Amino acid sequence: MEVRRDPKSFLFFIILLLLINSPEPQQQSFTSRSRYDEIIVHEWNELEVVNRTRYGDFDASKDKWLNITGLKDEDGFAWDLLGPVQERVKDQARGLLGVTADAAFDGTLEDQQSVPVYRNVSGYVQGEWVRSPLGRVRHPSDMNLSAIVPDNPFPMVEYERNLTGTSGMIRLYITETDGRMRTDKNRSISEITVRMVIGDNNSIGGNWWELVLNGVHFPKFGGSLVTTTSDKFAGIFALPHFSLSQHLYSESQNFLNRTIHETIDRQEGRAYPTWNPWTSAPDGASEGMLANPHCEFVLFLQEHPIQYLVKQEQNPENRLPDMDWLEHELRYPTGSTLPRRSPLSLSMVGFSPDCGFVIESKGPPDYSHEFAHLVGSKTEEFNDRARHGIIAFAMTLSLQLILLVKQMKETATPSTRNRISFYTIAMLALGDGFAFLALIFMHLFLGTSQLALYTTAFLALFLGVFELRFLMDIWTVQATEQMRQDRQQASAATPSSPQQPSSTPTPPPTTQISDSLPPPVTAARPPPIASDQDDTAGTAPAPAGEQTQTVPGRAELGTLYSRYCLLLICIFFVTLQFTTVRFTVRSFYFNTLSFFYLSFWCPQIYRNIMRNCRKALRWDFVLGQSIVRLIPITYFYAVSDNVLFSRNDLSALMVLAGWVWVQILALASQELLGSRFFIREGWAPPAYDYHPVLREDEEGATMPIGSTQAPDDDSSPSSMSKAGESKGKGTKVFDCSICTQDVEVLVLPSGASSENAPGLGGMILQRRAYMVTPCRHIFHTPCLEGWMRYRLQCPNCREILPPL
Ligand SMILES: *[C@@H]1O[C@H](CO)[C@@H](O)[C@H](O)[C@H]1NC(C)=O
Ligand SMILES: *[C@@H]1O[C@H](CO)[C@@H](O)[C@H](O)[C@H]1NC(C)=O
Ligand SMILES: *[C@@H]1O[C@H](CO)[C@@H](O)[C@H](O)[C@H]1NC(C)=O
Ligand SMILES: *[C@@H]1O[C@H](CO)[C@@H](O)[C@H](O)[C@H]1NC(C)=O
Ligand SMILES: *[C@@H]1O[C@H](CO)[C@@H](O)[C@H](O)[C@H]1NC(C)=O
Ligand SMILES: *[C@@H]1O[C@H](CO)[C@@H](O)[C@H](O)[C@H]1NC(C)=O
Ligand SMILES: *[C@@H]1O[C@H](CO)[C@@H](O)[C@H](O)[C@H]1NC(C)=O
Ligand SMILES: *[C@@H]1O[C@H](CO)[C@@H](O)[C@H](O)[C@H]1NC(C)=O
Ligand SMILES: [Zn+2]
Ligand SMILES: [Zn+2]
Repeated sequence: MEVRRDPKSFLFFIILLLLINSPEPQQQSFTSRSRYDEIIVHEWNELEVVNRTRYGDFDASKDKWLNITGLKDEDGFAWDLLGPVQERVKDQARGLLGVTADAAFDGTLEDQQSVPVYRNVSGYVQGEWVRSPLGRVRHPSDMNLSAIVPDNPFPMVEYERNLTGTSGMIRLYITETDGRMRTDKNRSISEITVRMVIGDNNSIGGNWWELVLNGVHFPKFGGSLVTTTSDKFAGIFALPHFSLSQHLYSESQNFLNRTIHETIDRQEGRAYPTWNPWTSAPDGASEGMLANPHCEFVLFLQEHPIQYLVKQEQNPENRLPDMDWLEHELRYPTGSTLPRRSPLSLSMVGFSPDCGFVIESKGPPDYSHEFAHLVGSKTEEFNDRARHGIIAFAMTLSLQLILLVKQMKETATPSTRNRISFYTIAMLALGDGFAFLALIFMHLFLGTSQLALYTTAFLALFLGVFELRFLMDIWTVQATEQMRQDRQQASAATPSSPQQPSSTPTPPPTTQISDSLPPPVTAARPPPIASDQDDTAGTAPAPAGEQTQTVPGRAELGTLYSRYCLLLICIFFVTLQFTTVRFTVRSFYFNTLSFFYLSFWCPQIYRNIMRNCRKALRWDFVLGQSIVRLIPITYFYAVSDNVLFSRNDLSALMVLAGWVWVQILALASQELLGSRFFIREGWAPPAYDYHPVLREDEEGATMPIGSTQAPDDDSSPSSMSKAGESKGKGTKVFDCSICTQDVEVLVLPSGASSENAPGLGGMILQRRAYMVTPCRHIFHTPCLEGWMRYRLQCPNCREILPPL
């Protein structure tokens, strides 16, 4: 994901707030004050040059130079490129506009033959640039920076923004500000600001730069001219001299004479020095003296005329809407249907007067129609899209809320809460907290849809609070359970009762036993505690004296919340930092982050294995959450014109979706085949097995109590006991005391070991049908599971049951 503004700008914003709220600043140090004055005097001088000069006063081919930084002969810039570039721009404009182009350049454009272009070009466009053969490679030594940086410590250091590859991506965010002061009476010229994000295919790791250019826009025919301005190049003052014709020169001169005047006036009036009001740094800071020098840019943009995609027969007279009406309707919608039209698109030719490269937008006629120069949409259309995206996200949040509430209702008892993995819910909660923070700060980046954003952010917060609440419930239950186990372990360490060694688990009589579990059936044990009072039966009934100490303290919950918030804020700020790094690093970071986020079922799978339990979460919760949480990620990975301009990466998306699918499969197979079926025996700590293989033995010590009949082997209807199989293998029928129906179970003969019993693999599903408790009572699986949602006690003898 790429955010549209540097996070530094956010820091800058905070610092600005601090500055504004701070008391009167200390006196500027004398030297910086005087340097500031010097800069302003210098600006007035250069404005004077703008005021004084005429068209053609600057012409490198005729050795005519101007007293403006960067336009002097001794500065050593490559101004011989200007002529060819201007010719190229004119050709391009003629190709797009036909004969009207020349009329537009001369200012003889009649009103009725006006070009169908947007008068207000605010919006964004993106595409690819290619290097033009007009340019050349220049080295730092070709430039003479001695006037600007008299004692340059690193004269040969390479420049920033030096495009060395043959192509790359480019994206322009164009802002055309409103207001009387920024345009002229006839609305034939206005001021625009262009923020450019430009990448270079040749650079290591896909480096990219962001810079701001200022300039003028001619709404009559859709041309623009923008330039960077810095200490070594006074671009905005030189801008009229880059114009394509005498007419455009005088228009821009008149206009800039006025606007530059106003800007310098404002700059003088400021309490805080604005070193360069036209700076190309995206966060508005001026580049320091020691900063690496960077390449300057001059860009010529030409809007493409709009084409309407109306069917011929529908519109016989071809009555096309007026551009002013169209733009007004876009900006202040009254509900009229707008004709379908081609998107906002621009052609670009640009060059760097110091670094010497010339770049063009990629598109016809030189390239195939696959590349359509720079294409994007107007701010209003973008805002619409952003709003729809936010509303869709709000809908996914509501779905999440519904699923969560259902799940919380389902797991209302301690014994059911005990099955859920704390970390699974914690990861989901972190995701929603992240969404909340992102939505809050998204306003700074999008600058639009404030209401929808904040409503959705509130929804995300609400969801996060719900999840925290759920987490708290789970944590309380599990902490109590943990304490109980610890206590049991401690008491087991003192040799009070004979313990069966749990070292030989291979042919388990009924179960594998560990210290934390109820003692084996055969072990001697104290008489069961009859605890009727206990209705929080999920946790084991503890002696009344200890019960008070085991309730987890508020303080621990406090640390839980503060850890959550701290982790969230850390992740958020690290993510912000990663939005400005190179493409490859950035996509690596976001892929990793998404991968970890989408691993949210892993802790649940792990918990299922460790506790040998299943059925922790509802299936609609698992499937619904997986899908709903994949939707926003799919949007950013697969939709090309998404609001954050993140690059598409379908293969990464496939990996992420596949990973979620694998986790769901794992959960499903745990549900069907037992939570440990893909784990080797002995990897997980022993846990009580409710579905043991029942086998015949002489004493009947491992058989469930209460067998009512043992039908004859041959008369058994079971499909498993075919004629000719080993004698003694068959079924037994018990009584389920919950539903008072029969439980028919398969019993292995005493001699058979589990390895060579033929039907053992097939038995895995049949064993799921019954459950045997540690106290050797047998029930139907649905019956006992339903019971255990409320009580972890044997319905027959009130023995404590290990959790499911
Ligand atoms: C611009 O030039 C005119 C004369 O052409 C002069 O009167 C005016 O003072 C100049 N303005 C500035 C800001 O230099
Ligand atoms: C150029 O302008 C500077 C002031 O900005 C002035 O000191 C210098 O004399 C001017 N040079 C020429 C050749 O006019
Ligand atoms: C731009 O990059 C090229 C190729 O690496 C290098 O030769 C040239 O000196 C660089 N130019 C500047 C101004 O840094
Ligand atoms: C570099 O600029 C200084 C003045 O700023 C000038 O005196 C010198 O001749 C210039 N050098 C070249 C090689 O143009
Ligand atoms: C150059 O970058 C563009 C992205 O703008 C990408 O589509 C293209 O495949 C890249 N080409 C190479 C050779 O890396
Ligand atoms: C152009 O449109 C944008 C977006 O609606 C708006 O903010 C801006 O004020 C408009 N500019 C002009 C000059 O109308
Ligand atoms: C505005 O247009 C009218 C004619 O359409 C022209 O006479 C006038 O000079 C123009 N004003 C400016 C400031 O360009
Ligand atoms: C520039 O503006 C000044 C007033 O600020 C005006 O006197 C002067 O004539 C203008 N110059 C041009 C060339 O329009
Ligand atoms: Zn039953
Ligand atoms: Zn029992």
